[in-house]
Amino acid sequence: MPLDLNLIRQQFPGLDRPAIFFDNPGGTQISRQALERINRYLLESNANHEGVFATSQASDAVLDEAHAAMADFYNAASPSEIIFGNNMTTLTLHISRSLARTWQAGDEIIVTRLDHDANVTPWVLAAQDRGVKVNWVDFHLEDGTLDLESLQTALERKPRLLAVGYASNSLGTINPLAKIIRMAHAAGALVYVDAVQYAAHGPIDVQKLDCDFLVSSSYKYFGPHAGILFGKQSLLAELFAYKVRPATDSLPGKFETGTQNHEGIAGVLGAVEYFAWLGQQFGAEMSEGLAEEGYHGRRLELKKGLNALRAYEFELSRSLLAALQTLPGLKIYGQTDPRTLDQRVATYSFRLRDQHPRETAQKLAAAGIYVWDGNYYALNISERLGVEESGGMVRVGAVHYNTLDEVERLRAALEKC
Ligand SMILES: Cc1ncc(COP(=O)(O)O)c(C=O)c1O
Repeated sequence: MPLDLNLIRQQFPGLDRPAIFFDNPGGTQISRQALERINRYLLESNANHEGVFATSQASDAVLDEAHAAMADFYNAASPSEIIFGNNMTTLTLHISRSLARTWQAGDEIIVTRLDHDANVTPWVLAAQDRGVKVNWVDFHLEDGTLDLESLQTALERKPRLLAVGYASNSLGTINPLAKIIRMAHAAGALVYVDAVQYAAHGPIDVQKLDCDFLVSSSYKYFGPHAGILFGKQSLLAELFAYKVRPATDSLPGKFETGTQNHEGIAGVLGAVEYFAWLGQQFGAEMSEGLAEEGYHGRRLELKKGLNALRAYEFELSRSLLAALQTLPGLKIYGQTDPRTLDQRVATYSFRLRDQHPRETAQKLAAAGIYVWDGNYYALNISERLGVEESGGMVRVGAVHYNTLDEVERLRAALEKC
């Protein structure tokens, strides 16, 4: 069944105002389900860990439920493979420090120029600490795809780790991750995936991908500000954790230092429930073969929901691309072939003639259309494209609550710009 946009938009109280939100790659509006979970947590079970009284027990139960929900969302083998933290950046700084303890001087690692800085600098800093060499993999300037040949060359040097994004928050490129992970594993490297940008746009399956680590932030997919890391159980169990007493040695507590943002974690559970609701409402035609592939219960609902929104996002992406392409003097960076929309998310970066991106964003804001401008911390991309010095780009990012009418209003506003 096609998505019912009215019903979907009713799940987002923040959309109930005269604004068009195309700032989604920077952060989405929160779902009603996530808000309700946050409220309910604070009203009914606000307490610290492991008390013998009702609110503490209820609180621990919510945290357990949230680990199970994110294990379902990532299709991880076990909830103990799920680590909550402040955000992607903080989790990555944490894990990079732990992983770097296993590196020796003279080892090598790989980062890419297509990645957000949060999946670059933590690794560069850790490498500096350990005397480890960092190899950079570039992207093709003409279409924003990762240069797999240069990746293969870097892998021949037998690096310890590859840090790579699932999708670019600037150019929208979806990396051929399964292939990249196979290449990296064949060279003996661990793979750390930044799925922050991708997670709102399609189902994630860490077991199928066979990635070693994967991280996302729920404020980018209809939840609150919280980061969620997956790590293979065997790796997390072995890794040294920077922690203080009384953190346990068991998973996931070993990496969840201090008192967590309990209400935020409850909100993440709500965001997962939102996706499952999408699956129940609109995923009926999306279930073919999924049970045989091993998806059941909430994992099946999630897969159906994310497949349904992905199908709608192709439509949105196609119309957004067509709208941008009709505007004279507008240059899109990244993939622009309407036949390969499955290789990108609906995140488009562009510039309008000689207009400074800040000015374009301000004009759109004045028209009630919210977009980002600059480099959005994908600094290497704007530098390589030669636009960093002159203000970067304008970024428009659609998610499934955006409508075709909003795309048309964007086109009309850009025409006036
Ligand atoms: C692709 C990507 N990775 C990482 C981050 C950093 O995430 P966080 O704000 O959770 O640290 C962002 C945030 O914009 C992002 O878009």
